[in-house]
Amino acid sequence: MLERGWLSVTNFVLTSITGNNDDLISCVAKLYLKKRVIVADVTYGRGVFWKKINLKSINFYPSDLLTCKNKYDFRNLPYPNNKMNIVVFDPPYCHNPGKMIVDPNYRNAETTKGMYHADIIKFYYDGMKEAKRVLKNPGGMLWVKCKDEIESGYQRWSHIEIYNIAKDLGFYAKDLFVLTQKITPIVQFKKQQHSRKNHSYLWIFKLPTIQELKELGRGNYERVNI
Ligand SMILES: C[S@@+](CC[C@H](N)C(=O)[O-])C[C@H]1O[C@@H](n2cnc3c(N)ncnc32)[C@H](O)[C@@H]1O
Repeated sequence: MLERGWLSVTNFVLTSITGNNDDLISCVAKLYLKKRVIVADVTYGRGVFWKKINLKSINFYPSDLLTCKNKYDFRNLPYPNNKMNIVVFDPPYCHNPGKMIVDPNYRNAETTKGMYHADIIKFYYDGMKEAKRVLKNPGGMLWVKCKDEIESGYQRWSHIEIYNIAKDLGFYAKDLFVLTQKITPIVQFKKQQHSRKNHSYLWIFKLPTIQELKELGRGNYERVNI
């Protein structure tokens, strides 16, 4: 018997999920996707994120440079300032991708061939800056999918770099989800140098209200527009 004030944990949304991107988004949606909100998915891909979501319950604006009827560049969206409640952002996350298993879904090679990790992070920065423009301020949320990577034998902690970008742009981190993949990843090299990554992240960033800024203890309560 549970004590008064404690709820069974089975109905709670947890930070860590094992499964696919659609499982992840359906968990995230339970907390953060309210009915009738205006949502732009600016890297729609094949719409895997939305397989378990009733899109009729939201105002949905999908776009993608390659895969969608609306071929918008996420760095230059055709939406007005201050329109969206949520922007969902899942750009290619790998530097100079070779032939990847996920390529039919992600089209990484077509958009990021020859890019270094720093270029990928610049890609994130440009997209997040444009997302901020179209988000309702205050209150708009930016969902950013990312995965850490290794470049030339060194760890590149993309999720930390992306957190720093979001903070610089005036967002605060409302939540962070970890998605662990079900399948065992393939190891490219015989001699293992680092632990093989089998998880990715989804950041939930928010443009804070004045009240939230105060409660967060950020000294400057004036909204900074970068
Ligand atoms: C990781 S996949 C997104 C997968 C998607 N979330 C899904 O559920 O299927 C990255 C997507 O970003 C798109 N993309 C790459 N560069 C872009 C750009 N500059 N503007 C808009 N979309 C871009 C690619 O075409 C690709 O579909």
